[in-house]
Amino acid sequence: MATDRPAEPVSRDTLVTSEDPLCFESALPALNQWITPVQTFYTRNHFSETPDLNPHSYRLSVGGAVEAPLSLSLHDLRARPVKEVVATLECAGNSRSYVPPPAEGIRFSHGAVGNARWSGLSLRDILTRGMIAPGATEVLFEGADVGEEEEEGKTLEVRFGRSLPLETALLPDTILAYEMNGSPLTPDHGYPVRLIVPGWYAMASVKWLTRITVLNESFEGFFQRRRYIFINEGETGQQSPPPVTRLRVKSIINRPRHGEVVHPGIYAIQGKAWSGDGEMVVAVGVSTNGGRDWLAAELVGPSARGAWRQWELPWEVSGAGHHILMARATDSAGNTQPVGIEWNFRGYANNGIHTIAVEVPAH
Ligand code: MTE
Repeated sequence: MATDRPAEPVSRDTLVTSEDPLCFESALPALNQWITPVQTFYTRNHFSETPDLNPHSYRLSVGGAVEAPLSLSLHDLRARPVKEVVATLECAGNSRSYVPPPAEGIRFSHGAVGNARWSGLSLRDILTRGMIAPGATEVLFEGADVGEEEEEGKTLEVRFGRSLPLETALLPDTILAYEMNGSPLTPDHGYPVRLIVPGWYAMASVKWLTRITVLNESFEGFFQRRRYIFINEGETGQQSPPPVTRLRVKSIINRPRHGEVVHPGIYAIQGKAWSGDGEMVVAVGVSTNGGRDWLAAELVGPSARGAWRQWELPWEVSGAGHHILMARATDSAGNTQPVGIEWNFRGYANNGIHTIAVEVPAH
């Protein structure tokens, strides 16, 4: 079950947010590169057991509303043309611990996000339009992990499963990934094969993928209808609550870290910004005086759809005392981060403005 303790450091790069199920997040200063190294990348598991799949006997089944079902080995998948995407995964529960009043769930700080180079094959390479029966609307993806969840006083045994609209499943960048940053996936990140859905909150990127089912009705599973839904103030979640889908525009400050002592002179404030609701991030505003004035940060480094963008602002540090730094991103669809944090019962998709305090010492 989820622990409620504050995160504990395990290395300079990661913090344990929960031991059972295992959830790690990145320390923000460690997210200082475009590509997040595997050992720094956050992990979010729902159950105690991490599946240990044998690559020799591994099969991925593709069935449901299709002409002829498939059963594919790892070798079959690796034999297909390679598709590579650089994509940012953000847990829908990232930044939950800053939601007032406290929301249900694993108490992530801001580090349940990372950007990696994922290699595999486009799902549509094996699940072609031609083989899908007319009337199909969704594709269900199931992992090998099973565990218990409490629901209305009952204990249910559930498998991790999530569906996507057919159009999203068949986008060229929706991939079945077997490599992360050029090496086979590690067990924590879904070995041997996981789904990657760029632009969506990462619950969609099903790990330890073993079964794909084309559906001609909506999937009603636990992680589709009971979790990853917005239960807003005044609602119970009973009447078709809106689902969590695409990433809201958001930015984080990696440098300085909260509480850092910053000396007078020029200091490069650095961070990351991303959006799934818009094609790309177009601006990041930075304030060094608690939101009274905003300066435009420079967007730097590589740019790829579905991947975060790095940004930087040279700050002329002066004036002893505490300074409040904020970063606010805007995407190409005109979405920008809200000033207030929008509460929902499970604290999903918090894209409130990242705010830290630093200290400039007196000479
Ligand atoms: N897939 C399975 N099979 N089981 C899971 O618990 N967690 C999801 C998603 N895919 C999960 C899963 C969630 S909520 C997130 S945020 C991402 O995986 C985390 O991916 P990572 O651990 O590789 O960072």
